[in-house]
Amino acid sequence: MPYVGVGAQQDSHKALLNPSMMKAYAVLGVSLLLILAVAAMGKHHSERIFNHHKAPTLEDVHKSTTDSLLQNIDVERIKQYLRRFTKEPHVAGTEANKKVAYAIASAWSEAGLDDVHTIPYEVLLSYPKFDIPNRVIIKSSNGKEIFRSSGVSPVIIAEEQSGKYAGHQWLAWSANGSVSGEVVYCNRGSDNDFKNLAHLGASVEGKIALMRYGEGFRGDKVHRAQKNGAIGAILFSDPSDVAADGTDETQIYPNTIWMPHEGVQRGSCMHGDGDPLTPYHPSKKDLFKSKTIEEAKEEGVIPSIPVLPISYSTAYEIMSRMKGRIAPSSWQGKVGENLTYKLGPGFSKDESLTINVYSELTTRRIRNIIGYIRGSQEPDRYVMLGNHFDAWVYGSMDPNSGTAILAEVARAMMQTINETSWRPARTIVFNAWDAEEYGLIGSTEFVEEFVDILQKRAVVYINMDTLVANTSISVDTVPTLHNIVMEVAKKIPNPVASERKKGRETVFDTWMATFPLKDGTAPEIGIPNGGSDQAPFLNFAGIPVVNFEFKNATTRDTYPLYHTMYETPFTNEHLIDTDNMKIHQATGQFWAELARSFADAPVLPINTTKLGHVIISEYLPILKNVLSKLSLSKEDAEMIKTQYKFLLKNCQEMLHMSEKFEETIAFTQHSFSKNPYDMTHIAAINERLMSSERCFVNPRGTLGRNPSARHVLFSVSESDSYSGSLMAGIGNAVDAYKNVPNKKNAREVANQISVVQYSVKCVLNTLREVI
Ligand SMILES: *[C@@H]1O[C@H](CO)[C@@H](O)[C@H](O)[C@H]1NC(C)=O
Ligand SMILES: *[C@@H]1O[C@H](CO)[C@@H](O)[C@H](O)[C@H]1NC(C)=O
Ligand SMILES: *[C@@H]1O[C@H](CO)[C@@H](O)[C@H](O)[C@H]1NC(C)=O
Ligand SMILES: *[C@@H]1O[C@H](CO)[C@@H](O)[C@H](O)[C@H]1NC(C)=O
Ligand SMILES: *[C@@H]1O[C@H](CO)[C@@H](O)[C@H](O)[C@H]1NC(C)=O
Ligand SMILES: *[C@@H]1O[C@H](CO)[C@@H](O)[C@H](O)[C@H]1NC(C)=O
Repeated sequence: MPYVGVGAQQDSHKALLNPSMMKAYAVLGVSLLLILAVAAMGKHHSERIFNHHKAPTLEDVHKSTTDSLLQNIDVERIKQYLRRFTKEPHVAGTEANKKVAYAIASAWSEAGLDDVHTIPYEVLLSYPKFDIPNRVIIKSSNGKEIFRSSGVSPVIIAEEQSGKYAGHQWLAWSANGSVSGEVVYCNRGSDNDFKNLAHLGASVEGKIALMRYGEGFRGDKVHRAQKNGAIGAILFSDPSDVAADGTDETQIYPNTIWMPHEGVQRGSCMHGDGDPLTPYHPSKKDLFKSKTIEEAKEEGVIPSIPVLPISYSTAYEIMSRMKGRIAPSSWQGKVGENLTYKLGPGFSKDESLTINVYSELTTRRIRNIIGYIRGSQEPDRYVMLGNHFDAWVYGSMDPNSGTAILAEVARAMMQTINETSWRPARTIVFNAWDAEEYGLIGSTEFVEEFVDILQKRAVVYINMDTLVANTSISVDTVPTLHNIVMEVAKKIPNPVASERKKGRETVFDTWMATFPLKDGTAPEIGIPNGGSDQAPFLNFAGIPVVNFEFKNATTRDTYPLYHTMYETPFTNEHLIDTDNMKIHQATGQFWAELARSFADAPVLPINTTKLGHVIISEYLPILKNVLSKLSLSKEDAEMIKTQYKFLLKNCQEMLHMSEKFEETIAFTQHSFSKNPYDMTHIAAINERLMSSERCFVNPRGTLGRNPSARHVLFSVSESDSYSGSLMAGIGNAVDAYKNVPNKKNAREVANQISVVQYSVKCVLNTLREVI
């Protein structure tokens, strides 16, 4: 729909539209109203309509659709889908994963989605040699082998875990090779840890880095170990993180959710996202690959040292032999009952350590699956839902809890369409991403391929990757969507019986109780992070995203069996979601209703006023605090302070403009039922709301970051690709100034404040009646 004439009139209430054009739109408006009226006459509604002798309001229609959708999300189907998608280990790029892709496509087609098809990419991937285990070998001084890790985790539940090579322990993107040397314990492998190691006189240079999982993305740990001169890296799961109740059989899997003795976390060691050979462009067969493997290695995107993951039992074999200084107390853990962690380097006896890793890089075809429910009113507006389907092994938690739920959301929506004559006003697009585990590859290539179309058509992207735990929903999103996610959570019945007994009737109530903001006014809502497929949508394309899951306040983002071979349906059904998978069901209900809200609301639930409030009351104080800690010359301090004040002023202006814009929205909504022309007014309002979101994309990228990180407010953290960071451009300029406090770097801090300001002005101008 062309929204000609928007902004040409001064009076926001009356004429967003040039009067000479109204005639053309009148026809359109009337026909749209008719369609809405017909939609309201579906089987479910007709009784009520005629009983009450009056036409249902739009709210009545929506409410009744919501009821039907929530009711149609069926637990038994989720269980069936889960088993269908987790039959075999299905790493991206393999035959087994291709089968899962087709299983998803056929589930969606059976449900009745339109245009279900695959979008292939040819991307670089990494595999172990599945028939030769990766090993840790310890030899005595006379060359006799004392210990050899099996490199394979044992099957514990035979019916679910007997697939070929399921137990193989490996890390994607590792270099191929064998290294021998002394080992150094590097705690979590953070920047600070490596700095501390240097102070403690235990350099990792020329040594094998032994690091524990947790507090950051593994790829970043490996990257730093390599940067600090390590010749190899070993990652282990510490029982203090993954077996908190002890490692007795009764306290671990399959009796509890805690990691068994030989469990190992697999995963990617890439330092970056997307196909490493085609940054910023999609890996299509006929497009040139701008990078070589050698370049990707030189640039540190993929490691050039061998890396392998080990169990805590194997970690004991290494750590119980280590000599050197005792590691700091915060570096201690529970690998052995009475074991004190030492830094090394090396072993106390004259023993040697070798790691053998077999790995190869190869180009394979991956496939995203896409399917549609065509919108009745605005088919060119996309409400996008997505989850990846590739897994390190069976993936029944990560990601196929989400895959099964998404398939059920699709099916339940089609059921509602079939039974009630509801059809979403906007198009709902279902996405199943491939090769997420390797570094968000499927979604990144997709966003790179379709970025222009997505920026024009996509209203929102809603991601659900993994159902992590069973306590509460947890949502990360941009401030413009805070209100709508809370509203939707209030509509979802609480799946947890013990919570309902406490009077917490809805998902929202438990959310408030589990993750409250400090002031208790609302649940805590995080900024979107880099841990799943929402990242390219927000960071590269500026599309507002929601990423949500069910979590536990103590274990937070991860769970002990993460990326192990023990993520099979038994875990979902008997350890995590034991009350007949009600959490899976509630997750589907939330997802479906959130999508419906974006698809059906005449005015998009994008709230720029909330954005203004959050920037002013939350983000700017953080920025002010960071700036106040810089030691600056008087002149530079003045320069930066002035710029900060300009930013604050623009944010306040944006907030006021947005509040004014809300009056326009309210007026339009109010007159919607009476005035057919307002269909066009609503389209104009929506156009502006969507455009406001795009204001934060800086086409030149974020200072000091890979150019695909283009969102000036939200970016993936440099030091931890799992988490998000706020106003990274300013942050990086501040860091550069701290390292080299000169005039040029002080000017860059001011400039980066101005870059944020520029985006805020863009929102202001987008909402303004005239430019
Ligand atoms: C990996 O290294 C082994 C020796 O450790 C060698 O035999 C093999 O050819 C290498 N594989 C690749 C793909 O480079
Ligand atoms: C650890 O130390 C305690 C107390 O000294 C002792 O009773 C226990 O047997 C030790 N455990 C191991 C595995 O050595
Ligand atoms: C909806 O109807 C279509 C067309 O009859 C059918 O193919 C599809 O299976 C139905 N879907 C559901 C979930 O009932
Ligand atoms: C969160 O999970 C951990 C591990 O299962 C458990 O010990 C803890 O009690 C859980 N917390 C809540 C609030 O359920
Ligand atoms: C919730 O998860 C914990 C493990 O963290 C488990 O012990 C408990 O049984 C689960 N509760 C339900 C209702 O599934
Ligand atoms: C937008 O958010 C503000 C602040 O939370 C709220 O007062 C306002 O009612 C919201 N507007 C709409 C249209 O929901």
